[in-house]
Amino acid sequence: MPWHTLSRNSPDDPHAAFALDVLTGLSERPKQLSSKWFYDDTGSVLFQKIMDLEEYYPTDSEREIFERYGEDIAGRFSGQQLDVVDLGAGDGAKTSILLDHLKKAGVDLRYVPVDISEGAMASLEDRMKQAHPGLEVQGVVGEYVPALRWLSTNSDRPRLVLFLGSNIGNFDKPRARAFLRRIWSGLRPGDHTLVGFDMKKDIEVLLAAYNDKEGITRDFNLNLLERINRELGGEFDLQNWRHFGTYNVFSGAMESYLVSTKAQEVKIAALRQSFSFEAWEPIHTEYSYKYLPEDIESLARFTGFELCAQYSDRRDWFIDSLWRVS
Ligand code: TRP
Repeated sequence: MPWHTLSRNSPDDPHAAFALDVLTGLSERPKQLSSKWFYDDTGSVLFQKIMDLEEYYPTDSEREIFERYGEDIAGRFSGQQLDVVDLGAGDGAKTSILLDHLKKAGVDLRYVPVDISEGAMASLEDRMKQAHPGLEVQGVVGEYVPALRWLSTNSDRPRLVLFLGSNIGNFDKPRARAFLRRIWSGLRPGDHTLVGFDMKKDIEVLLAAYNDKEGITRDFNLNLLERINRELGGEFDLQNWRHFGTYNVFSGAMESYLVSTKAQEVKIAALRQSFSFEAWEPIHTEYSYKYLPEDIESLARFTGFELCAQYSDRRDWFIDSLWRVS
């Protein structure tokens, strides 16, 4: 395998972390499942489809930003060495535009994608090497924190850490602060990070993006239960569950739930127990926090970064914010 695979657990028990999270999440009240488990190989493919949806604007907005401002971003690194570390790289389509601009600016590039899905990493490496002949690609399969730790011991080149899409939105505000602070602590003076922020906007636009007409988002959310069935011997009957996406104006988060449509008991063999659900009981699966411009500035300041530039799309729906370690 050309990429490095990092594991939090003993390598002979790859499902241990997932099993433990499902056990603790379904034992909590209200019940919850962590959104990072969406992205197995099936979930990663479904998420690519979400990114292609008419209603899912964040991808289009960010692509527009890179087309308009890629040259400006790249110009800041012209002629230098740079490791571009792409956290949650996915299909790398947007990053690819940025890499083109960096190459044009004569940057001596190395591309370091980090993703939790091995399937996504395999197709990403192929695609990137094809699109950018001669590009040095060093993938890392794993979760963000171990990946960042691995990186800080494996490179002494200047770094640009990309945290694109609405990745940062999946953390609540205190966790977002802690995570960015953690990135900061792994970087050296002069290193940069480019963080994507999905902005607060018309509620109808938000609701449509997380409840698409084709039902891809529904399938994506339900895949979490199918994954429990596949990997942990769960017996979720998908007929008895529905996807629900809503916006909390006060907390500023899109919230996704799986709702049990009837009272039921569901056995999960690997956990050696059954879980009971009442009729209309929810399992919380994701937050996607939306930002105001002033939230971004205070976040940069609070986490120790210096804000260099902000780039937004024509509709002002999304901001990519460039920060530097001073
Ligand atoms: N992180 C993405 C986002 O917040 C993932 C996502 C898109 C998602 N649609 C979803 C997660 C629906 C759960 C349900 O935009």
